[in-house]
Order: sequence, then C-alpha cells, then structure tokens
Amino acid sequence: MKNIIVANWKMNPQTYQEAEDLIKNILEGIKDLNNTEVVICPPFTWLTDFSHKNEAQILFGAQNVFHKESGAFTGEISPLMLKNSKVDYVILGHSERRKYFGETNELINQKIKSSLSVGLKVIFCVGENEGENKEEVLVSQITEGLQGISEKDLGNITVAYEPVWAIGTGKNCGIEETQDAVASIKKIIEKLYSQNASEVLAVLYGGSVKSENSGDYLKDGGVNGLLVGGASLKAEEFIKIVKSAE
Ligand code: PGA
Repeated sequence: MKNIIVANWKMNPQTYQEAEDLIKNILEGIKDLNNTEVVICPPFTWLTDFSHKNEAQILFGAQNVFHKESGAFTGEISPLMLKNSKVDYVILGHSERRKYFGETNELINQKIKSSLSVGLKVIFCVGENEGENKEEVLVSQITEGLQGISEKDLGNITVAYEPVWAIGTGKNCGIEETQDAVASIKKIIEKLYSQNASEVLAVLYGGSVKSENSGDYLKDGGVNGLLVGGASLKAEEFIKIVKSAE
C-alpha cells in the first residue's frame, strides 16, 4: 500500500492566482514519487479547474459533497458531478462539517454510500473532542458511518483519525496515542466485518501535522499517511511532508 498524503486547504486561499501558484510550487517539489499518493483538496471554486488538467503527480479531492444524485438542491454538488470532473476523492465526516454544519453520523453515512456508488474514494474522518471517551466515539462514528457498507467497498475508504483537539491547535497527538487509536479503529473494523478487513483499509492521522512531526507518524504511528490542513497551504512545508512519506 502506498502512503497517502492529503492536503485539506479548507476555505483557502482567497484568489485563483494564489491557488494556482500553490499547485505549481507543490508540483515542482514533488517530481518522481514512487511510494506516495498525493491528494489535494482545494475549495470547489478552484477544484475542477485543476482536476481537469490531469497532473500526473497529484490526484484531487473535494472537501464535501451532497448525497443526492441530482435535482432541486440549491447550492449543492453531487458525487457524480465530482466523478465527471475527474475528481478522485472526497473528504467526509470532517469535524468542522460535524460542528458547524450539524452533520450527523447518519448523514455522513448517506454521503459515503452515494460517493462510493459513483466510484469516488472516501476519506472518512473520525475522532473525539477534548474530554470525550475516544473508544466510544470511534465505535459510534465508525459503526454508524459505515452502516450498510460492504466489506468489498473498504478498499475505497480511507479512515482519517483526527482528534478534534489536535486540529489547527499545534497540539498534535502523541505517537503512542496515535498507535492506540489506529489499533482501535482496526479492531472496530474487524468486528464489523472480518478478521482480514482491516488489511485493505488505509488509516491516516490528521491534526497539526508539520514537517517536523510527519516522519514520526509514518515511521512509528502505524498509519498509511497523513491528512494535512494548515501546513498544506505552504508549498515548501507540504513538499517536505510528502518527501517524508517517500
Ligand atoms: P490541521 O488540520 O493540519 O491544520 O490541524 C487538519 C484537518 O483539519 O484536516
């Protein structure tokens, strides 16, 4: 399995020019990758322009999608629209969507199902808030989020462990704690599916990843990659993170 490094640009940057420069600079720094898949998730306004360009070194992902196929849903974008725009991935279940847009496990489950049905790959974010019981949160988010999804679809799902207290705070999760969370996630998946189910499942870590800590997660954290927010907006920093995965 290749390492996967995902850039979540969130609601940045504010101009097309800045977005284009960032992509160009990243591309210059990550030629000839062998062991790493790089997925960049810009806001919708810039996403499809870049995805249509078919850059060889990178894949593109959306930060959200609606679960209906088509119709009267003002302001929304369907999974098929993304698929038809050469977008390969979609981030779902991100804590910011759960917090600011009231996304429930049930809604996230619908979004995951409709995304998989058109052939999109899903980056499914899970993780506890400060003070919450990690184990309980992971069990409910994963069990409800993957309700009705078959084992053969797990190869198209990447679970991103993102403890909410670590996102954008500079307080990244310790390596041992990350290992524990990854083990818990795999155990939950094995319980829901079969003993072998977790073998095809990629697990990422996200939350205040920087070039100084990225290598540690990849080497000792038991993860197959990283979901990077703030540090993905600085080309030099993001390139270093990608190189740590190679
Ligand atoms: P951060 O964000 O790297 O800025 O903490 C990660 C994320 O929200 O996916």
